[in-house]
Amino acid sequence: MHNNLLKLKKFEPETEDILSEITEGLTRPQKALPSKLFYDKEGSSLFDQITNLEEYYLTRTEVAIIKDNIKQISDTLGQECLLIELGSGSSQKIRLLLENLNNPSGYVPIDISEEHLLNSVRTLAKDYPGLRIMPMYADYTKSFNLPPFNFPYSKKVVYYPGSTIGNFSPVEAYEFLRRISQIAGPESGLLIGVDLVKDKRILHKAYNDKSGVTADFNLNILRRINREIGSNFNLNEWEHNAFFNSEENRIEMHLESKSEQLIQINGTRVKVARGESILTEYSYKYTIEAFRELVSDFYKVETVWTDRNNLFSIQYLVA
Ligand code: AVJ
Repeated sequence: MHNNLLKLKKFEPETEDILSEITEGLTRPQKALPSKLFYDKEGSSLFDQITNLEEYYLTRTEVAIIKDNIKQISDTLGQECLLIELGSGSSQKIRLLLENLNNPSGYVPIDISEEHLLNSVRTLAKDYPGLRIMPMYADYTKSFNLPPFNFPYSKKVVYYPGSTIGNFSPVEAYEFLRRISQIAGPESGLLIGVDLVKDKRILHKAYNDKSGVTADFNLNILRRINREIGSNFNLNEWEHNAFFNSEENRIEMHLESKSEQLIQINGTRVKVARGESILTEYSYKYTIEAFRELVSDFYKVETVWTDRNNLFSIQYLVA
């Protein structure tokens, strides 16, 4: 145990809540499963593989934008800020910030995978002995609170990379970011990665990689539910289907049924027709103007950094 690593705070989601979220989703006209269920141990590691795919431009572009503008980013965040990361996962990207910011005062990684979280904070605590680390195990899409911080810091900066904001519909994103601005409080910052609207073909490829990792990532959600909730999805009867919906500016990821099926999920029976789909994820893309407009009730967009092809953006917002 390292003395800079504080005890894990838990806002554990109830299994019952998850079960009812699943059955509620599967009884809608357009069947759906919550995207956050992707990230069990296998899913998190499949996602890590996705981030290294040639077709998946997001992660590599985001990291390049941060690297290319690191001086300006650290000046913007200032001395001794308190970094709060939503969905920290394997805490890889944060190293780039931790190594280049001006004396960050503390780091609060929040993640829904307890195992991922514990593993990553142990190594971080060793690698950054002067940094206070306060891990929180929570579903940040639900209500959560920040613990009191009894050490000095200049301002709170929420870090929300990866364009995970795209998983929410614009209405949900609005509500979510409003809540985050309230939790972190007035004058707090938000450093957020937002994927941009672009050529349909680039988007299509990013979610339909040749090696099939994304398809496997998508199907893994059923494997996980079978194992953890107790259901009988036959993975051979489902197919990955991802496409860009240009009316809504979003990638839609579905699992499409190859046959008529009857699924049992912990006591609930669900009928599925051949060709019917379960929606597993939205990934909304924004223009810089549309995103500014979306957050304008509670955040001022201070700086936008992009790559030269305008694929992705890193934005600094002030509450
Ligand atoms: C982690 C939500 C940003 O939407 O691109 C990757 C997840 N889904 N490939 C995304 C994902 C399919 C990813 N986010």
